[in-house]
Amino acid sequence: MIDQFGRHITYLRISVIDKCNLRCLYCVPHGWVNRNRFADLLTNEELLALAGIFAELGIRKIRLTGGEPLLRPGLVELIARLAALPGIEQIAMSTNGVLLARWAGRLKQAGLRRLNVSLDTLSRETFALVTGQDQWQDVVAGIQAAQAEGFEAVKINTVLMKGVNDHEILPLVEFAIAHRLELRFIEWMPTNPFTNTEREDRFLSNETAQAAIEQRYRLIADDPDPSSPARSFRIEGTGGRVGFINPLSNYFCARCNRVRLKVNGRIKTCLHGQEELDLKTLLRSGAPREAIAREIATTVFLRPEQHFLNRADVAHRDFVMTEVGG
Ligand code: GTP
Ligand code: 5AD
Ligand code: SF4
Repeated sequence: MIDQFGRHITYLRISVIDKCNLRCLYCVPHGWVNRNRFADLLTNEELLALAGIFAELGIRKIRLTGGEPLLRPGLVELIARLAALPGIEQIAMSTNGVLLARWAGRLKQAGLRRLNVSLDTLSRETFALVTGQDQWQDVVAGIQAAQAEGFEAVKINTVLMKGVNDHEILPLVEFAIAHRLELRFIEWMPTNPFTNTEREDRFLSNETAQAAIEQRYRLIADDPDPSSPARSFRIEGTGGRVGFINPLSNYFCARCNRVRLKVNGRIKTCLHGQEELDLKTLLRSGAPREAIAREIATTVFLRPEQHFLNRADVAHRDFVMTEVGG
C-alpha cells in the first residue's frame, strides 16, 4: 500500500483491548471507565481475517497495543496465528509490564519478537503516583523475565513529566545501561481535554533529557529503523541505548509507515488525524474480502501528510489513548 505522498505502509498497530490495569496520568482521564466490553471487540477470527487482508496489501509488521494487551483473553493464540499469516514478518507488543513475568515465556513461544514496556520511574512511590497502583516491582520483574526469554528487543518507554520523574533522567539511563536495554524518552502528547489539563503543568521537552544525558555520556546516532518515531542513539562505551520520541515536532511524519486499527474496529490513518474507516461494520455486514481490501487501500491512500499538533489554528480530534493504542 502506498499513500498519496508516496509513503509505503508496512506497519499495522492493533489496539486489542481498551481495558487497562493501570491509570497513567498522561493516558487515562480521571474517573474514566473503558467504553468497550469484551463482547464489543473484534474477535480473534475477525482480527485474523482483517490482518490477512492487510498482509495481502503489504503489511509486514504488526504491533499489539491497548489498553493493556495482556488483559485480552486468547491473546497468545492470536499472536501465534498472526505470526503464521503469509507476509507477516514481525509481531511486536507494547505493554505496561505488570503481567509480563507470568506471560513472557508463552508470548515468546507463540512468536512474539519484540516488546516495548512502559516504565517512567525507578521509585516504587512515584510509580504508584503516576499509575495509581503499587506494582513497580511487577513491571521490573516483567522486564527481567522478557530479557531472560531472549526477545529480539525489549525497549523501555518513559514519558517525561516535570516534577515527577525529571530528576530521574540519569538514573533511568543507568538502569538501561546496567540491563543493556534501550530507553526511550517520550514527550507527553495532547490527546483530550481531561489529560491535557494535567499536561499543561507537567509537559517537558525531550531536549531537557537529551542535554542532561549528553553532559555525562557521548551519544552516537544509530537509527536501525528510519520509520520509527524515535531518534535512537548508542551510549558510547556501554551496552545501553537511548531514544527520544518527540511527537510535537513532526519530523517523522514524512517517513511514517503505520496505520492503526482501533479497539472499536475502525482504522485510523494518522494518530492525530480525523480520517477513519469502520472495518468492523464492513466486515460484519458480510462485505467480500476484495471490497474490504479496496476500501482500506482507498482510505490509506488519502492519509494526511502530517499532523499539526504544534499549530493552535488547526482543529484536532480528541482521542483516548487506550482506544487507539498510541
Ligand atoms: P517501534 O517503532 O515499532 O519500536 O514502536 P513505537 O515506538 O512506535 O511503539 P510504542 O507503542 O512503544 O510507542 C511509543 C510512543 O510513540 C507512544 O507514546 C506512541 O504513542 C508514540 N507513537 C508511536 N507511533 C506514533 C506516530 O505515528 N505518531 C506519533 N505522534 N506518536 C507515535
Ligand atoms: N503522550 C505520550 N505517550 C503516551 N503514552 C500513553 N499516553 C501518552 C501520551 N499522552 C505511551 C505510554 C506507552 C506507549 C504505548 O504510549 O507510555 O509506553
Ligand atoms: Fe495503561 Fe499504558 Fe495507558 Fe498506562 S499508558 S494507563 S499502562 S494503557
